Amino acid sequence: MLDRGAPGASAQYHPDPPPSTGTGLMRRKPVERLVAEGGQGEGGSLRRSLGLWQLTMISIGATLGTGIFVVLGEAVPKAGPAVTLSFVIAGLTALFSALSYAELSGTIPVSGSSYSYAYATMGELVAWICGWCLVLEYGVSVAAVAVGWGEYLNELLDGTVGVTIPAALSAPPGDGGVFNLPALIVVLLAMVFLLGGAKESARANTVMVIVKIVALLLFCAIGFQGFRSGNYEEFMPLGMAGVSAAGATLFFSYIGFDAASTAGEEAKNAQRDLPRAIMLSLVVVTVLYVLVAAVAVGARPWQRFSDSEAALAGIMRDVTGQTFWGTLLAACAVVAIASVVLTVLYGQTRILFAMARDGLVPQVFARVNPRTGTPRANTLIVSVFCAVLAAAIPLGQLADATSIGTLFAFALVNIAVVVLRRTRPEMPRTFRVPLSPLLPVLGFGFCVWMMGSLSAVTWAVFGVWMAAGLVFYFSYGYRRSRLATPEK
Ligand code: ALA
Repeated sequence: MLDRGAPGASAQYHPDPPPSTGTGLMRRKPVERLVAEGGQGEGGSLRRSLGLWQLTMISIGATLGTGIFVVLGEAVPKAGPAVTLSFVIAGLTALFSALSYAELSGTIPVSGSSYSYAYATMGELVAWICGWCLVLEYGVSVAAVAVGWGEYLNELLDGTVGVTIPAALSAPPGDGGVFNLPALIVVLLAMVFLLGGAKESARANTVMVIVKIVALLLFCAIGFQGFRSGNYEEFMPLGMAGVSAAGATLFFSYIGFDAASTAGEEAKNAQRDLPRAIMLSLVVVTVLYVLVAAVAVGARPWQRFSDSEAALAGIMRDVTGQTFWGTLLAACAVVAIASVVLTVLYGQTRILFAMARDGLVPQVFARVNPRTGTPRANTLIVSVFCAVLAAAIPLGQLADATSIGTLFAFALVNIAVVVLRRTRPEMPRTFRVPLSPLLPVLGFGFCVWMMGSLSAVTWAVFGVWMAAGLVFYFSYGYRRSRLATPEK
């Protein structure tokens, strides 16, 4: 299914693209125009410096983190040992959508990810809704992930210097604290890397990704020594409903495989490498998740998972009888989760960059610093926003809000593949979803099923979020859209 593609920088399917098609809320931005504008911001261009290896690392970096190190501990009590099955179900949901992402990222290799795919296929209003959901997927998840980072930092401090940051300073209001200082710090650290440049951030991310993969493999090797088949005796103690509820929670751990699709304008050969990076990262992550979950529930009875937030570190300690291993794992988790913060924050800045270039959010987000080739003001604003959110909101609520927004965006991407196949069948595609439209339709169905498993409170939060987004669009973006003012 993979063909060789031309470098993203030179991708052109049409010598003279029309400025837009459709009118009003349905106005669409032609693929050719999206691609032709790629990389260009206000006052400078983004730099094309990322190859397949870095792109894959960005996607793995954004995916592997809090979900496996922290959220696994919350999901096991819902499903028991069948949590392994929950990972497979959540992974399938991700897989169908990943195929759609792979096709579209190869066809429309820009920075806006699903927002841009929706703009080309379903019109501006749907694109806006998608972009607004991506703020949940990226911006809000940075905050959720940063909170998980603080939990492992405390575990690490406890194991090394014997002190922990007091609850008042390490938890938000509603979770027994006043302010989450570690969460704030990790977001600001990521900001410093991003201000340095995409290539520099990608390099740091690669090191962190290697650390986390090695850490999880080490967990499997050590945890396996404590494996008791008796822990699997009752595989599905809470039935299929438990498995699917845990799957919906664990879907969070797959969020991020699409992060490479936000790097389309900084990739050296976007059309060829983006689909590969997305698929490769999903395979690596799924294999690791199922292995880690299988070992974890084999090494610790499922009923005991609610004891600790840093479940994997606890299991390492129990199996070896030495605090050293638990502390080592906590140290790796601190690095691992920091790389999620870095890459997801990166993704959020690039999505807003694309939306600002289209005029739907203020232009400041599209301003590029000519020296670093990065959107500096954008990075500063997004980082401060995420840091404050991370410091003030409890993780559980954030993770679910993130999942619902992501699922909605994924559902739209599955539709976009089918629409583009019909409206532009002649376009060159470096990757094609097999059995289309069956697999995209299945992808859509899985997303809707997962959304249905989330709580009423999450739906209410989502409803309020979408209403706020629509108010913003109709009072700002609708009139300022570059498609509404083509002379700009
Ligand atoms: N998938 C990312 C994580 O688990 C958001 O941290």
